[in-house]
Amino acid sequence: MRILLLGSGGRENALAWKMAQSSILDALFIAPGNAGTKQYGTNVALNPTDFEAVKSFVLDEKIDMVVVGPEDPLVLGIHDFFLADEALAKIAVIGPQKEAAQLEGSKDFAKQFMAKHNIPTAKYATFTKDTLEQGYAFLEGMNAPYVLKADGLAAGKGVLILDNLKEAKAELKSMLSDAKFGEASSRVVIEQFLSGIECSVFVLTDGDSYKILPEAKDYKRIGEGDTGLNTGGMGAISPVPFADAAFMDKVKNQIIIPTVKGLKADQIPYKGFIFFGLINVKGEPYVIEYNCRMGDPETEVVMPRLRSDLLDLFEGVATNTLSERDVQFDERFAATVMMVSGGYPESYEKGKQVYGLHTVQDSLVFHAGTKADGPAVITSGGRVLAVTSYGRNLAAALDKSYQAIENVEFDKAYYRKDIGFDVVER
Ligand code: AMP
Ligand code: GLY
Repeated sequence: MRILLLGSGGRENALAWKMAQSSILDALFIAPGNAGTKQYGTNVALNPTDFEAVKSFVLDEKIDMVVVGPEDPLVLGIHDFFLADEALAKIAVIGPQKEAAQLEGSKDFAKQFMAKHNIPTAKYATFTKDTLEQGYAFLEGMNAPYVLKADGLAAGKGVLILDNLKEAKAELKSMLSDAKFGEASSRVVIEQFLSGIECSVFVLTDGDSYKILPEAKDYKRIGEGDTGLNTGGMGAISPVPFADAAFMDKVKNQIIIPTVKGLKADQIPYKGFIFFGLINVKGEPYVIEYNCRMGDPETEVVMPRLRSDLLDLFEGVATNTLSERDVQFDERFAATVMMVSGGYPESYEKGKQVYGLHTVQDSLVFHAGTKADGPAVITSGGRVLAVTSYGRNLAAALDKSYQAIENVEFDKAYYRKDIGFDVVER
């Protein structure tokens, strides 16, 4: 198969690494990719949301399948664009069409879907500029903390959790009336605060059947002990100790099956990954959010734990034969630690040379924000490298990643030294 993978982060590096091991891969292109993906295929200077440019490349290179890493092209309708074009319609796209991508692209759509299909999630109501007063009244009827969510995509910043009513009202007004998050906050979901521990569950589906992939837990805050600003994710572990068989059984029966069946019942086709952002409240799973793609940095531990041929699974998705495919996991534990540019997630410098990558022997280095400059690797983003290791337990996997990181350097590099702190026994 000739594959075009869209995206440029650590997730795409991990997907490229995994697909490069497939016995049915003939050629792999990554657009735009990074200095890490280059090891597994050919980087192409293409913008994943420039559908016409993607089309020309796909036709010129006789691509058989497009694998979409990030959400933007999906929410903008890249899969629909392919289906609507005579020359592209037969080319497989891994990633849902626009309607289903609203599970991530619109919090209100996701909440309505969950309510309709009885999927456990926080109680909620949705407001617009015209119903601001009702929004205030709704907040008055709730207890702190207050959870406000911009309906649309807001680069991971659209969720506010506020401790007092006055602040919550002020933020609601700023989101609805002053377009705090632009068009994304023209609708705001207010929901009940759930207290528990989060984890991420991933499913690959062809729209009829599904396969559950290894679960993971990511660490979103910049500071140790889960403090400070939210980031794209500072590290991840898999498996997740509290996601035991009893919990995963509930996840499957109360969340995964109703989601896949609900999509089918609503005649919403879905081919690709479903990311369930879950919270465990006293042993009961609730959906915090859906994403229509894999997580980053979760992919950097999920792909290493997948033994099966990923392209074989993707072929199953494309041809509606996923149920016939076999999914096997690596029983080892995996942990990834993200090295970021100093200052991230606020302002940071780019263009720093990365040293010491050749010293890493026993871990996997997935590039997140790098570019190649001749033989040199240069930083080009906030999140720079995800260093993944296997271990007989989580502590061993983490120790190995931390050892590997000792010899990898770039100016003002930062990483959290406590990934896994809440679930690993030391
Ligand atoms: P989201 O973008 O919906 O995943 O929200 C971002 C983060 O906000 C989540 O990862 C949670 O940590 C937190 N969060 C969102 N919704 C809730 C909720 N209803 N109760 C508690 N925390 C929440
Ligand atoms: N790590 C969370 C996400 O990818 O959305």
